[in-house]
Amino acid sequence: MKKASLIIIYGTTSGNTEMVVDKIAEMAKKAGHHVVAKRVESAKPEEMLEYDIAILASPTYGHGELQEDFIPFWRGMGEVDLKGKKCAVVGLGDPKYELHYHLESAPILEEAIQKSGGQILLPALKISGTPVRHLEGLIPNWTEKFINLIKS
Ligand SMILES: Cc1cc2nc3c(=O)[nH]c(=O)nc-3n(C[C@H](O)[C@H](O)[C@H](O)COP(=O)(O)O)c2cc1C
Repeated sequence: MKKASLIIIYGTTSGNTEMVVDKIAEMAKKAGHHVVAKRVESAKPEEMLEYDIAILASPTYGHGELQEDFIPFWRGMGEVDLKGKKCAVVGLGDPKYELHYHLESAPILEEAIQKSGGQILLPALKISGTPVRHLEGLIPNWTEKFINLIKS
């Protein structure tokens, strides 16, 4: 099996997204892949080009917006050519804050990736409410699917 290099770029305000990213990174490393997890405030969109695969992970804030640190990165994505780049998205949200804009970060990131020519490997991992109760189940199940897809 060819080992892939993976960058996970994430924004987090209260730590939930980081918890999800840590779990994905741990599993991908265990599967033998080279994994770098980086906070979005210290990342640039061009860095996605240096890796085989990129995961973008952001919670939803405001009224259905990306986490604030993600916004400059998201704007910069229009400047990079992600043609053929394998990508995946993780979005967090909570209906108790915004029922009408629940989990909007996921489609915002998917659209940005597609506009820049990137390839979305699988439907986004969407976490509603605290991720703690999904550390078994949803998160590892999605990550297993993701790892299977990057094997080839
Ligand atoms: C001020 C505020 C606004 C929020 N707005 C939304 C929203 O519009 N849509 C949504 O689905 N979740 C919203 N959320 C919920 C967060 O996305 C959710 O708590 C997430 O797990 C936080 O991730 P983090 O801990 O990585 O920052 C909001 C939370 C706060 C505190």
